[in-house]
Amino acid sequence: MTQPGLFDDQPFASLDAVRREALECRRCDLWKSGHRVVFGSGAERARLMVVGEGPSDADDRTGLPFSGPSGGLLDAWLGELALSRAEVWLTNVVKHRPTMTEHGRERNRPPRAKEAAACAVWLAEELRHVRPDLVLALGGSAGKALIGRDFKITQQRGVMLAGPGDVPVLATFHPAYLLRLEPPELQEAVRLVREDLALVRQTIAVP
Ligand code: URA
Repeated sequence: MTQPGLFDDQPFASLDAVRREALECRRCDLWKSGHRVVFGSGAERARLMVVGEGPSDADDRTGLPFSGPSGGLLDAWLGELALSRAEVWLTNVVKHRPTMTEHGRERNRPPRAKEAAACAVWLAEELRHVRPDLVLALGGSAGKALIGRDFKITQQRGVMLAGPGDVPVLATFHPAYLLRLEPPELQEAVRLVREDLALVRQTIAVP
């Protein structure tokens, strides 16, 4: 299958054309573990693009990003910004679910660097079409994909950074990380996420 936006000078004409091509993606081995491509969803032109790590088991079933517990928390964060999923572009570093086997069970895992690199073409195309004013990177994998391999969530969370094509990128914690924390670490992480959301609100001028 040809991929016009990737290998020659004819860019994909629309996000839908990108999606159709991505649905056939075999650029790394993740298609063998993920049952389907979970492409981005939401507003095709949006002030805010949110980038997560990769589809979870729930997303692999529904075909939609953030359809499990992390998505519930993300919805609450968007609610604090007075935004709905329909008003932002929500996507991931990789579009197939990365898995590992632990104690005989299939678990979610973060994408490997070479999987993220193989999938980067789709994220680049999403950025080119959505043209957000700001990208909110959720966690370390998204930070590395957008800022570079030296990105460190512990040091660069909450700092306005320059992503591909100089698009402003703000990294915050991944919702799944907060769901694993207990007090008192949880309260501190919630406080930091609130600060980050306030900066998002300011940057995209949510009233
Ligand atoms: N679901 C997603 O779509 N992305 C994540 O990073 C986690 C869960």
